[in-house]
Amino acid sequence: MHETSVTKGILSHGDYEAFQQFLQQACGIVLGAGKEYLVSSRLGGLMRHYDIATVGELLNQLHHGRNPSLKTGIIDAMTTNETFWFRDMAHFNLLQQRILPELCDRSASRIRIWSAACSSGQEPYNISMVVEEFLARNRGRFNAMTEIVATDISQRILEAARRGIYCGMSASRGLSAEQSKRYFVRTGDCLEVRPEIKRRVSFRNANLTQGYELLGRFDIIFCRNVLIYFSRTQKQEILTRMARILNPGGYLLLGSTESLSGHSDQFDMISESGGIIYRLK
Ligand SMILES: C[S@@+](CC[C@H](N)C(=O)[O-])C[C@H]1O[C@@H](n2cnc3c(N)ncnc32)[C@H](O)[C@@H]1O
Repeated sequence: MHETSVTKGILSHGDYEAFQQFLQQACGIVLGAGKEYLVSSRLGGLMRHYDIATVGELLNQLHHGRNPSLKTGIIDAMTTNETFWFRDMAHFNLLQQRILPELCDRSASRIRIWSAACSSGQEPYNISMVVEEFLARNRGRFNAMTEIVATDISQRILEAARRGIYCGMSASRGLSAEQSKRYFVRTGDCLEVRPEIKRRVSFRNANLTQGYELLGRFDIIFCRNVLIYFSRTQKQEILTRMARILNPGGYLLLGSTESLSGHSDQFDMISESGGIIYRLK
């Protein structure tokens, strides 16, 4: 282990290995070698808050279950919540131009969409914005009740997502001036998602490495920019379970740098309009 002034003293080699195991078991995240700095810097605030001097002591307290909120705090600190508005725009175009029209032609009365690692809410609210626009363009032709279920493992990020208020960079990154006006209400220097966009989205805590069959069945699953953190086996298990809860002909959308190749043969790949989506066989 390369010790720096940050890791020195609070993270021994043995503790790093124990922490790697804990994190993979708790949320699937695989920490490779040489990430000691990341662990120390992300856990620093939490450890100071609970007056815990070393990662070994932190793990000890976890194992003895003396403080149940410690685990939540560690997961909040160790998850990477990077996201922005209309990320991988091709997916939202394909939702508007291909997937929703197809469901509309099937005369579906109810459409269920899952944003499986929703972070601070940009992804599920963007889906709702696309649905809103599709409804407006297809009035009288498309009457399906559309429900968007948004889940994440981090309690802290879900609270932010539920509020739907964005300030600073998160209020501008990926948004045009016209979109800000159309889908948000300005509150001081911040933007709040309009009620008609929020209404369609419900937020829940769910760990992708555990069972999520209770969420019900879906027509579309957005599982973007999260599988990259998991092991090959975890990825395969997650994709198999997702295939089970997708309705026939349902769609799966992964991040633009992620692919199904070698992980699942239950989907057909569709490459269209600059984006890739997967359709259940
Ligand atoms: C990089 S963000 C991706 C957000 C959004 N899907 C996007 O593409 O912009 C990854 C999210 O996955 C969540 N996450 C990490 N491990 C998870 C797990 N085991 N179960 C559910 N969510 C998880 C993190 O909390 C984080 O909010």
